[in-house]
Amino acid sequence: MNRLLILLIGVLLISCANNNESEVPGLSKTERIAAAEFGQSMVKIGFSALSSELKAQISSKGMDSAIYACQLKANPIIDSVAKASSTSIQRITLKTRNPLNKPNKEEKQLLRLMQRAKKANEKLNPITFLIDSNTIAYYHPITIGPMCLNCHGEPGVSMQASTYETILSAYPMDKAINYKLDDLRGLWAVKFDKSALD
Ligand code: HEC
Repeated sequence: MNRLLILLIGVLLISCANNNESEVPGLSKTERIAAAEFGQSMVKIGFSALSSELKAQISSKGMDSAIYACQLKANPIIDSVAKASSTSIQRITLKTRNPLNKPNKEEKQLLRLMQRAKKANEKLNPITFLIDSNTIAYYHPITIGPMCLNCHGEPGVSMQASTYETILSAYPMDKAINYKLDDLRGLWAVKFDKSALD
């Protein structure tokens, strides 16, 4: 991805925030709609797989055990959804808990732009574009809900201090705390071949 695309992201972001009908260079309108639907369906599957595992762990074994279960299972669960659909699926963020979820350079720009839009109280919409002639990327904002604060909130305030201790023992380099309700936590990044839409 080059500088031009980074600029385009900015333009798209602004137009997406105001208008769902915005154009995606290199994709027809039909392809764009199909790509966004496909991306969204992947996010739905990934999200429900993760959240059902998380809820089951929290209710049966408690918060600490859910943290270790996340460490062991979150990315493998996402990878298995991706493999089943021949896509690549990640969750990326500027403040990582698992360093494997780091964005690339261009994605970092995108996250910063989204964060700026969020601060300006703009509604964040998913964004679709071509990253090369064959590959479509679909990015879907992840925001913080009440349940998320248990493990991504402010230690000793919106998150129990003891939970934070467990997190630090599992992730000594953790940066994924101090979020508030409705903050932008990161993005689902779904990448797939254009032929997936045929
Ligand atoms: C039980 C504690 C717990 C709860 C509740 C929780 N998370 Fe997490 N979260 C984690 C752990 C642990 C990881 C690291 C997983 C890994 O190693 O791949 C993580 C990773 C993430 C990541 C990947 C980026 C990164 O920093 O590694 C995102 C995005 C995320 N969480 C969002 C959320 C959202 C949104 C919610 C609420 C719907 C939520 N989390 C609820 C513990 C939790």
